[in-house]
Amino acid sequence: MKVLLLNGSRREKGCTYTALSIVAEALAKNGIETEILHALPTAESVSAVAEKLKTAEGVVFGSPVYWASPSGEMVWFLDHLAGKAGALLAHKAGAVVASARRAGTTATLDVLQKYVAYHQMVSVSSNYWTMVHGNTPDEVRRDEEGVQIMRVLGENMAWVMKCLEAGKKAGIEPPATEKKIMTNFIR
Ligand SMILES: Cc1cc2nc3c(=O)[nH]c(=O)nc-3n(C[C@H](O)[C@H](O)[C@H](O)COP(=O)(O)O)c2cc1C
Repeated sequence: MKVLLLNGSRREKGCTYTALSIVAEALAKNGIETEILHALPTAESVSAVAEKLKTAEGVVFGSPVYWASPSGEMVWFLDHLAGKAGALLAHKAGAVVASARRAGTTATLDVLQKYVAYHQMVSVSSNYWTMVHGNTPDEVRRDEEGVQIMRVLGENMAWVMKCLEAGKKAGIEPPATEKKIMTNFIR
């Protein structure tokens, strides 16, 4: 089983990456393959992730807080990924992570969580809202509570994925996807 961890920061190896690395370590400890990908706001980056989604059973959407919201880069990326490959997210494990110097984390998590919820993902949580605090990777590593939150998120995600896998092996398949009804509020 595999999890893709998407880093929506401009900094490839910054705080968001550090937080995702901790989640990835916990997943790996549980025998789950991981890949951290830099989610760039380009069509090529979206296509590459869309391709990798075909063989992944879980996804973590990570973003730094920019102006009390997810980065514009990450919102652009997710809007395009949703349009191109949203169906590939359905019934997979999904989680969200925010990294901030100080504030705007819960608003950021709310936005990221919308992509998990809309796409019928199985939402995975931790022992607190899934955020870390810091301006540098070293500061994130010193955020003891944040590190624990990331570790527990990885452990929970591994457990949920193993449960889903066991269910499939026992013949419990995800529900068939219904054709989407869109009324646009017009009768
Ligand atoms: C354009 C921009 C806007 C930011 N806005 C906020 C903010 O509103 N609140 C906050 O706590 N930190 C803010 N920060 C700091 C980053 O969220 C913080 O340093 C984060 O951990 C960086 O993660 P990264 O290293 O993965 O980019 C901002 C940083 C940038 C570059």
